[in-house]
Amino acid sequence: MNMNDLIIKKRDGGILDEEEIRYFVAGYTQGKIPDYQMSAMLMAIYFKGMNKEETCSLTVAMRDSGDIADLSSIEGVKVDKHSTGGVGDKMTLIAGPIAAACGVPVAKMSGRGLGFTGGTVDKLESVPGFQTTITEERFVELVNKHGIAVIGQTGEIAPADKKIYALRDVTGTVENISLITSSIMSKKLASGSDGIVLDVKFGDGAFMQTQEEAEELGNLMIEIGNAAGKKTVGLISSMNQPLGRAVGNSMEVIEAIDTLKGKGQGEKDLIDLGLNLAGLMLYAGDRASSLREGFDMAAEALRNGSALEKMRQLIEGQGGDPRVIEDRSLFPRPACKMEVRAPRTGVVTKLRAKTVGIASQHAGAGRMTKEESIDPTAGIYLVCKENCPVARGDVLAEVHGKDEAKVQAAAKILETAYEIGEQGGPEEPVVKTLIG
Ligand code: URA
Repeated sequence: MNMNDLIIKKRDGGILDEEEIRYFVAGYTQGKIPDYQMSAMLMAIYFKGMNKEETCSLTVAMRDSGDIADLSSIEGVKVDKHSTGGVGDKMTLIAGPIAAACGVPVAKMSGRGLGFTGGTVDKLESVPGFQTTITEERFVELVNKHGIAVIGQTGEIAPADKKIYALRDVTGTVENISLITSSIMSKKLASGSDGIVLDVKFGDGAFMQTQEEAEELGNLMIEIGNAAGKKTVGLISSMNQPLGRAVGNSMEVIEAIDTLKGKGQGEKDLIDLGLNLAGLMLYAGDRASSLREGFDMAAEALRNGSALEKMRQLIEGQGGDPRVIEDRSLFPRPACKMEVRAPRTGVVTKLRAKTVGIASQHAGAGRMTKEESIDPTAGIYLVCKENCPVARGDVLAEVHGKDEAKVQAAAKILETAYEIGEQGGPEEPVVKTLIG
C-alpha cells in the first residue's frame, strides 16, 4: 500500500476501506508517514467527506492505536459522560454525583484542559488536598466503595488522535464531522466504560454553531458508539451563553456544590442539564428503563441530599477536605478582584460565551500551552446573564485571580462579552432535544 495512492483516491472522491484506513492511521502514529502526506489526506477528507463506514473504520483504527482501559474489576454497568466542550461546563461535577447516588458507577478518567478553563481534574485539584494521581487499584477500590472517583488519564489513550488533532489544528481541518467524530469517539471507546452519554453543544462558545450541525454530529457519534458495542445516547444543549454563573476552576467546584445542595441554590440551567444528563446516565447504565424514570430518580437524589453526599465521598475518598462542602472559605482565595460595570441602562441582550471563556483564560483559569500551570483562584463570576435588567454602573461580572495584570486584561476582554439593549428576548432552554 502507498500513501500517495490513498491521498489521490480520497482526493478524487473514492471510498477508503478498513485496511487502507488502518494503514495510514498506524503509519502516521508510528512516524512512518510524514506530516505533509497526512495533512494532504486530512484536507482531502475535509473536502470529500467520509461515509459512515469510513468514519467507523477511522474511529476504530484510532482507538486501537493505544491502550484500552480495563474497568472490568468495577462492579456494575459503567457509564462515561462526555461534553463536546463549553464555557462554565461543570456538568461532570453535577451529573456524576447524581448518577452515582442512583447506583451508576462513575469511573471517570479525565484529561487536563487546554482551553478556557482546566478540565475536571484541574477543577477538583482546587479542593485542598484532593489527589487525582492515585493508583489504578485505589481508583477501582474507591469506585466500588463510593460509586465515584475521578483521576487523570493513565496509560496512552488513542495516541493517533493526539498526533492527528495537533496536525488538524494547524492545517485548517478541524471542522469536519467525520474527523471530529473519530477524534472524540476513539477516546471514548478506549475509556473502558460500557455506556456513553454525549452532551453535544452548539452556539457561540461551541464547535458547532447551529443546532442542526450539532444534531448531525451527535447522531453520527451515537451511531458509531452503538456500532462499536457501547450503549450510546445523548442530548443537544445550547452554549450561546456560559453555563451557570461561575467560569474558573475553584469557582466552578463551589457552584457545583451549591447546585447539589438543591433547595433552589442552583442555577436553573445547571439543574436542567444536570438532571437530563444524569437521567441519560441512569438509562445507559440500565438503572432506569426510560429517560423519564431516570430523570425522576435523578431529581429525587438531588432533593434528598444523596447526590451531595456522593460529592462529599468523592472529595474525602481522594484526600480532599470535605469541610469545603459547608465552608467555601477553605478554598484558595484570589488575591485580586475586579468588577466590570454596565456602561448604560438597559437589558443584557447578549452574553457571548466564547468571549467570557477567553477572558477567563487570560485571568489565569485556563492554559494557553500544555506546560502552563493553572491559577485555581482565577475566573469570572457572572452577576448578570442574558435578560438581566441593569442600570448604568451596576456590576455585570467579577474577575478573580492572583495576578493583578492578568485580572485587568481579563476584565477588558470581558467588557466586550456583554451587549446591552432596550429589550430582552424569550428565555432559551439549555436542553434542546434528546438524541439516540
Ligand atoms: N474535541 C475533540 O476531542 N476532538 C475534536 O476533533 C473536536 C473536539
